[in-house]
Amino acid sequence: MHPASHLDQLPVLISSEEIAARVNELATAIEADYAGRPLTLVGVLKGAFVLLADLVRRLNIPLWIDFIEASSYGDGAQSSGAVKLIRDVSHDPAGRHVLMVEDIVDTGLTMNYLFELFRARGALSVEAASLLVRHGGARLQRPLRYSGFDLESEAFVVGYGMDYRGYFRNLPHIARLDRPADYDAM
Ligand code: IMP
Repeated sequence: MHPASHLDQLPVLISSEEIAARVNELATAIEADYAGRPLTLVGVLKGAFVLLADLVRRLNIPLWIDFIEASSYGDGAQSSGAVKLIRDVSHDPAGRHVLMVEDIVDTGLTMNYLFELFRARGALSVEAASLLVRHGGARLQRPLRYSGFDLESEAFVVGYGMDYRGYFRNLPHIARLDRPADYDAM
C-alpha cells in the first residue's frame, strides 16, 4: 500500500465546507474591487490550482487567467530561502491589474519576489489572495489584500492543492501532516 493512500485519515484542519464559504466571501470582495478594471488572475503553481478553479467560478466579471510557477521550497518541508522562477506567465502584465492567487503564504518570500516581478513589468496594480497565511507572513514586505484563514501554527498542511513531496494535493479539505518524515520514502 502506498504511504499516501490513506488521505482521509489525516486530521482535518479546515473542512471543504468552511473553505467553500470563505472562498465565496473572498470572491464577493474581489468582484466588487475589480469591477470595470482589466484583471488578470495569476495562479501560483502548483498549489493554487484548486483555489483558482473554485474562485474563478464565483467571479462574475471579465478576467484573464494566467499561471506562474515559483518555489521557495525544495522537495520537502524546509524552505530553502531563495525563490526560483520555474515557469513564467504567457500574457504581458503591462497595463493590467494583476491579482496573484496563492495556496499558502509562509515566510512571504515568494510573494515579495512576485510582487516585484509584476511591478517591474508594468502591471497597473499588483495584489495577492492566499487561502492560508502562516503567522501573518512574517517577512512579507506589504500586506496581503485577501487572505482566507490565518494559520498560527508550524504544522505542515496538505490538501486543497497543497502537497508534501508532490502528494496530497487531491484532498478536498486541508489536513495536518504531523509527521512529514514518515512520508519521505514515497
Ligand atoms: P513562502 O515563500 O515562505 O511564503 O512559502 C510559500 C510556499 O511554501 C507555498 O506556496 C507552498 O508551496 C509552500 N508551503 C509553505 N508551508 C507549507 C505547508 O504547510 N504545506 C504545503 N506547502 C507549504
